[in-house]
Amino acid sequence: MCGIVGYVGDGNVYKILINGLYRLEYRGYDSAGIALGSAGKINIFKTVGKVDNLVNFCKDKDTDCTFGIAHTRWATHGAPSDCNAHPHYSEDGNIALVHNGTIENYKLLKEALEEHGCRFHTQTDTEVLVQLVSWIRHENQCTLVEAVREALKQVIGAYAIAVIAKDDPDTIVAARKQSPLVIGIGDNETFLASDATPFVEYTKDVVYLEDEQIALIRKGKPLKIFNFENEESTINVKKLELSISQLEKGGYPHFMLKEIFEQPNTLLDCIRGRVVQGGKKVVLNGVNDNKDKFLNARRIIIVACGTSWHASLIGKRLLQDMCRIPVEVEYASEFRYSNPVITPDDVVIAISQSGETADTLAAVEIARKAGAFVYGISNVVGSSIPRNTDSGTYIHVGPEIGVASTKAFTGQVMVLTLLALTIAELKGTMTQLEIEEMGQWILRIPKIVEEVLGLAPQIERLSLIYTYARNFLYLGRGYSYPVALEGALKLKEISYIHAEGYPAAEMKHGPIALIDAEMPSVIIAPNDHLYEKIVSNVQQVKSRGGSTIAIVTKGDTEISSIANHVLEVPKVPEMLSPIITTIPLQLLSYYIAINKEKDVDMPRNLAKSVTVE
Ligand code: G6P
Repeated sequence: MCGIVGYVGDGNVYKILINGLYRLEYRGYDSAGIALGSAGKINIFKTVGKVDNLVNFCKDKDTDCTFGIAHTRWATHGAPSDCNAHPHYSEDGNIALVHNGTIENYKLLKEALEEHGCRFHTQTDTEVLVQLVSWIRHENQCTLVEAVREALKQVIGAYAIAVIAKDDPDTIVAARKQSPLVIGIGDNETFLASDATPFVEYTKDVVYLEDEQIALIRKGKPLKIFNFENEESTINVKKLELSISQLEKGGYPHFMLKEIFEQPNTLLDCIRGRVVQGGKKVVLNGVNDNKDKFLNARRIIIVACGTSWHASLIGKRLLQDMCRIPVEVEYASEFRYSNPVITPDDVVIAISQSGETADTLAAVEIARKAGAFVYGISNVVGSSIPRNTDSGTYIHVGPEIGVASTKAFTGQVMVLTLLALTIAELKGTMTQLEIEEMGQWILRIPKIVEEVLGLAPQIERLSLIYTYARNFLYLGRGYSYPVALEGALKLKEISYIHAEGYPAAEMKHGPIALIDAEMPSVIIAPNDHLYEKIVSNVQQVKSRGGSTIAIVTKGDTEISSIANHVLEVPKVPEMLSPIITTIPLQLLSYYIAINKEKDVDMPRNLAKSVTVE
């Protein structure tokens, strides 16, 4: 949801900023822009479309400079256009600003500035902010930091900003509230970005800016951080655990395919050190260190968005089955405005791959204020959700760059499985033997996933038959119902085919009316305790002329004899089946999108990290 990069130092500023934008492009790709500064001069170049367009645009331009800021946009206020692209600048051209987030009171601020004679040239909320900073600076004859601080005091909304001025060379002022910003401290150079990926090859020393902090980044001078009361904050330097190879495609045509195929390894990383003694014991430190909270939990509420919400639905079943604790799952965006009843006896689990989703972060805030114990499950180390929760677990699947989530989903489901097993052991709701049996199965999962990935050529062939279907139905029951939702979401996201996930038995209450020869159904039907039930659902589709693709357990005969196509996966315990059955669905959507020549890694209108509500 918009990517910001900034750089001050002796390196090639233009190159560093452009490479940074490429790394952050997953956050939004409607338009891109750059502001290149040197003493008394700022050149701004911006274009609609992806970073490639910006690079072409800049080919014959003066990109010589000593400091700069850049931005890749996911439009909120104002359509994607050259004019609405960031950086935005003050009317006198002195100040340039990039912004990630939304300024809720921008209309009021704009009217006030218009009364003072300011004129506006874009439809964005960001232009209001840069004009406000400029106006305050003029009126008060103050420094850039002071003007930014005074402007932000008037702002309602969420933001991460970077600001530069012609008359203040080799300086960047940055600030954040509810949108991430991280500063990289190198040798005589300082980087700023929405996440650490733009500067991973230059430095591992990072400082995560906190909400309502303002950073003053200057060439050759130490970093300074202030709060809104102008008090200097202590600088807490952390070590980054990220390598450049994790950010490359490694021979795959797309990040999404790489990430699908990485799953045997990412799942191994996710369980490493957590399933120990040959599977006899499951240890999740975040849970073991907070035993009392989980043992006394009256109920668990899981909040999340998108794919993470689907993982949460699986988590609900796991926690209920293994731990016998009541669990509610809420969309974070609904939860935050639902006047929720939360008590200090509740445990709230927030699940977010990026750790930055605005709605999930807001839900965390509400739960903490209500006194609940808040547990985060995230992938991005140091992101806002882990930093704002009482405890938590990282899924450790490495950076996920493809916008449609794949390896993060299986990592989340795996962590939820470990969480449920750990609590079950503490509560005594499972026997030692049952826990050991699950632990041993979990250790086998990476190899089983590898086997399932062997279905890729069969799925690629199958995808050719269904590439031009206009609608799909995904059906599942029990643990396979959230898998159906996730399969449908994956197809929608990257192939733009309408797809609906449904509990298979609910189909007869409405969606069955849609079934005809043009509407294929994907049925997730592993051999679990609802298998016989779903057989009749397959028959209902068939008897109405619908074609069926079924995900079944190896050796299946019943559904295999009715369905048009079957994809066989190895047998695993029912509670582990979502990790296995989801893999063929990821591959099916990938190949269909490829057949349709869609941009699978950067699907239209989407962004990976949604930092606005
Ligand atoms: C966006 C992404 C989805 C993701 C969702 C929640 O919509 O495109 O892939 O599932 O945000 O993101 P989170 O980082 O909180 O898991």
